[in-house]
Amino acid sequence: MKPIQVGLLGIGTVGSGTFNVLARNQDEIRRRAGRGIEIAMVADLDTARAKSLVGNEVKVVGDAREVLANPDIDVVVELIGGYGIAKALVLEAIAAGKHVVTANKALLAVHGTEIFKAAAEKGVIVAYEAAVAGGIPIIKALREGLTANQIQWVAGIINGTTNFILSEMRDKGLDFDVVLKEAQRLGYAEADPTFDIEGVDAAHKATLMSAIAFGIPVQFDKAYVEGITKLAAADIKYAEQLGYRIKLLGITKRTDKGIELRVHPSLVPAKRLIANVEGAMNAVVVNGDAVGTTLYYGKGAGSEPTASAVISDLVDIARLHEADPAHRVPPLAFQSSSLVAAGGELPVLPMADVVTSYYLRIRVSDEAGVLAKITGILANAGISIDAVLQREADEVGGEGSTQTDLIILTHDTREGDMDRALAEIQGLPTVLAPINRIRKEELN
Ligand code: HSE
Repeated sequence: MKPIQVGLLGIGTVGSGTFNVLARNQDEIRRRAGRGIEIAMVADLDTARAKSLVGNEVKVVGDAREVLANPDIDVVVELIGGYGIAKALVLEAIAAGKHVVTANKALLAVHGTEIFKAAAEKGVIVAYEAAVAGGIPIIKALREGLTANQIQWVAGIINGTTNFILSEMRDKGLDFDVVLKEAQRLGYAEADPTFDIEGVDAAHKATLMSAIAFGIPVQFDKAYVEGITKLAAADIKYAEQLGYRIKLLGITKRTDKGIELRVHPSLVPAKRLIANVEGAMNAVVVNGDAVGTTLYYGKGAGSEPTASAVISDLVDIARLHEADPAHRVPPLAFQSSSLVAAGGELPVLPMADVVTSYYLRIRVSDEAGVLAKITGILANAGISIDAVLQREADEVGGEGSTQTDLIILTHDTREGDMDRALAEIQGLPTVLAPINRIRKEELN
């Protein structure tokens, strides 16, 4: 059978990895796919660099629309990123009847409903394994491997940059700003790291996992997003003394009231495998009612790990692209007619309705009755305390200090109740600084 013809839009890190892995493993890939997979065209603004990467046998153009206009191209691989031109090109490729493979989590998390609808109308595939956790086949696991289950929750370290920063903060006892600068100097963090450090990239990925775990549309606008910029070395140290590590988790959970969808730093028991995922690595834990807890670990970014995911989508398309669309795996795992409408019986819950436990760090004056007042306010709000740690004032504020840190771990409570209690505690004259609140996930 004639090799399937692929057009790459963008040949940066992932595009060149895709080209190299396809070339290196072409025999194995052909034996799996049942036909060859050939990159026939590459579009990139830097045509000279693109030519130096792919040689003379591949047509290189500066205008991506030349790829879309070529009737011989079966699949377009979008590796441009972002919502702008990438969205236009993906929709145009679909309109031209081409299958699309994309690593663009931002695009699908925000515009997925429109894109999947357009693809369904044209009978083409939009595949996106590379959009979540790079080389880890988590989309395939959720969409295919776990189809027997009612998924209960998914929690992942799905941003390598922030996990690298948190690992360095813990290892070296340094604050966030210092580690970020070092990570940028070493090339681990982008010059503009906003999407990573503010949790937006992780929220894009969590949004996609939420949709395929529960059969709901992508709803990035309903995700709660909090990054790691306010974390202090002290929090990491205190968490460790209490038996926890702090990780930026993307969490989506089924509850009686609806779906939780949130990204924020979380204390995780140090004994959990996911708490020990260090550096730029990713890991996702999925809990299903039949299978129990499963863990997926690997590289979440990088040239060949992400290419591995892109090529697995190309193999799926090579096997299935002539099949009746009804026989393909639905893009969001559930048949599109069976997705629960946004706001329907599985609404994404506002953060005030999320139930979780908390770590609180409260800077107080070290005097009689302060702890009693704080625990009294928590008790009145129905919030049960799990553990309290009080540091020596000298250790916190230097010799002779009259201030200290109170660390309180709570049991599960509604976030809205915690918000009200914290506002009251913050108003006490003996509370001397903004309270640090970090959510805690036992993941059991
Ligand atoms: N910037 C992401 C990360 C990789 O740091 O994990 C691409 O999503």
